[in-house]
Amino acid sequence: MTSATSFLFVAIHLACIRDGNSSESFVKLECKTEYHGVYGQQLILGCIVKPMVENVTIKTVTWKRMGATAKDDANLLEYHREKMDLTPGFTFAEPSWNKNNMNVSLLLKNTKMANKGVYECMVNTDRGDTTATISLSVTAKYKTPTMSSIPETNIKENTDVTIFCNSTGGHQTGLIWWFDQFGSNWTRSAELVAKETEDGLFSLSSKFTVLKATSSYTNYTCKVLNVNGAEEGMASFVIQFAPRDLGSKADHLDIVSTTKWLAPVVVIGSLIIGLLAALLLFKRRSAQRGHQTDTRHDQDVEAEGLNSDRN
Ligand SMILES: *[C@@H]1O[C@H](CO)[C@@H](O)[C@H](O)[C@H]1NC(C)=O
Ligand SMILES: *[C@@H]1O[C@H](CO)[C@@H](O)[C@H](O)[C@H]1NC(C)=O
Ligand SMILES: *[C@@H]1O[C@H](CO)[C@@H](O)[C@H](O)[C@H]1NC(C)=O
Ligand SMILES: *[C@@H]1O[C@H](CO)[C@@H](O)[C@H](O)[C@H]1NC(C)=O
Ligand SMILES: *[C@@H]1O[C@H](CO)[C@@H](O)[C@H](O)[C@H]1NC(C)=O
Repeated sequence: MTSATSFLFVAIHLACIRDGNSSESFVKLECKTEYHGVYGQQLILGCIVKPMVENVTIKTVTWKRMGATAKDDANLLEYHREKMDLTPGFTFAEPSWNKNNMNVSLLLKNTKMANKGVYECMVNTDRGDTTATISLSVTAKYKTPTMSSIPETNIKENTDVTIFCNSTGGHQTGLIWWFDQFGSNWTRSAELVAKETEDGLFSLSSKFTVLKATSSYTNYTCKVLNVNGAEEGMASFVIQFAPRDLGSKADHLDIVSTTKWLAPVVVIGSLIIGLLAALLLFKRRSAQRGHQTDTRHDQDVEAEGLNSDRN
């Protein structure tokens, strides 16, 4: 009885020691603990099983994204008893992975904003178990902005022109700065509208109105910056003024039309002046002649008076 009891005790004790050893494990999982993914790109969360003994065979691999509670954990990849269970968009990074391949890295085929979070990789082998966690942040960059204007073309000098600078794809509200071709900063005169689009991304549209645009300032540049002030894109826009030679033709026409109306004015004017001069001269002469007849008439009257006196 006593020998049997002591044997049982030893057996239990040995089992405990074995358990303790196996939970300590002859395998280790080495992963980079932090990853920064980029929206729309593929990403590998790298994990390697490091065996401390030879001939380790993997029995189970589980990759999950951890939720707020264990119930919200999302299984992304599960290998168990030679069977693979994958969530679309996730797979082993090694194209033809098998149980003897210690590279258990996870591939995200198309990184989304929603993929950010904490990931857990669990590996069970015939020589022990191992677990590691990785935190993933995802950023998205603004695309090169596109620019347009209202009106688009044939713009006249000294009219107001509204220029747009639009960009999409950032993961936070960004900024848009404006400059003219001489480097003056016009950002204060611009209006920025930011909108959240699908999958947690943002679109920016900045509106800048050039008051009384002139063809000596045609080239405007806008720069897109992320929330940290780093430049992510830039574009330039040239205001499409009405062709200049049309303008000089109009000037020429002006000169031609001026001479057209000036000539008759000069002719008519000189004619009028001539006529006036002639009229004046004629009046003066006739006035002189009138005076002469008058005196003659007076003389006549006097003569008549003399005659009557004589009568
Ligand atoms: C590992 O496996 C090889 C071949 O399968 C065998 O020759 C070797 O003895 C094994 N080593 C250990 C430590 O089990
Ligand atoms: C694991 O596999 C991936 C995909 O083939 C590879 O990019 C990575 O470098 C491998 N890691 C190591 C440590 O070999
Ligand atoms: C930029 O956005 C504004 C306002 O949404 C729009 O009117 C304009 O056409 C857009 N321009 C370009 C080049 O996308
Ligand atoms: C341009 O102007 C904006 C708004 O005043 C300012 O925040 C920004 O620092 C300026 N940028 C440069 C390069 O001067
Ligand atoms: C407009 O200005 C930008 C920045 O100064 C320059 O890179 C670009 O070549 C200019 N475009 C034209 C058509 O002059």
